[in-house]
Amino acid sequence: MMLPVGVAIDPKSGAMGQATGRYAKHLGETRGCYQDQAAVDALLAARGDLPVYEVVEFIQPGSDIIFGTTTMSPGQVGEEFFMTRGHFHQRRDRGEVYYTQSGRGVLLLESRQGESRTVDMVPGTCAFIPPDWAHRSINTGDAPLVFVWVCNADAGHDYAEILTRGMRQMVVKRDGAVALAPNPRYAA
Ligand code: F6R
Ligand code: ZN
Repeated sequence: MMLPVGVAIDPKSGAMGQATGRYAKHLGETRGCYQDQAAVDALLAARGDLPVYEVVEFIQPGSDIIFGTTTMSPGQVGEEFFMTRGHFHQRRDRGEVYYTQSGRGVLLLESRQGESRTVDMVPGTCAFIPPDWAHRSINTGDAPLVFVWVCNADAGHDYAEILTRGMRQMVVKRDGAVALAPNPRYAA
């Protein structure tokens, strides 16, 4: 039987009291996300295969809901920032919620038709991700970005599309400011 439970989450680290799963993504395995491959190589040579983000999950067996935290390291690759791979959900009728706990970032969203939107990720902001919008989080600050996410357990992940076509927009640091720029590699 499923029982109610309160799961403690450290807002600064994303650590969860009763994790049922976790994984980490490092720079090397996410290199295809970035425009500037020479900058990826230079960073790998200088700092090694840095951890970019860690995901910790909580689900009760049989539950239709899963939640967890994503904790993103700060970092820049060329003019871009450390980012998640980004995905659509396999089930096109499944949305998601991202609640930022600490740090600062941008949630970059893109509809199946290629329409772009952003939501600022600042502590206390709860972002609604509609069904069938791809989503990628980007740490634009100089501290870890920690957010809690909640979605249906059967949502699934479809990484292939974003991997292949990229996202229409990039989040970059230009002239000391965080800005949106069109992605030259976007294959509409
Ligand atoms: C789940 C979800 C998040 C991300 C996580 C890592 O649907 O959106 O848990 O999976 O932030 O990002 P990706 O999966 O894009 O590498
Ligand atoms: Zn998702």
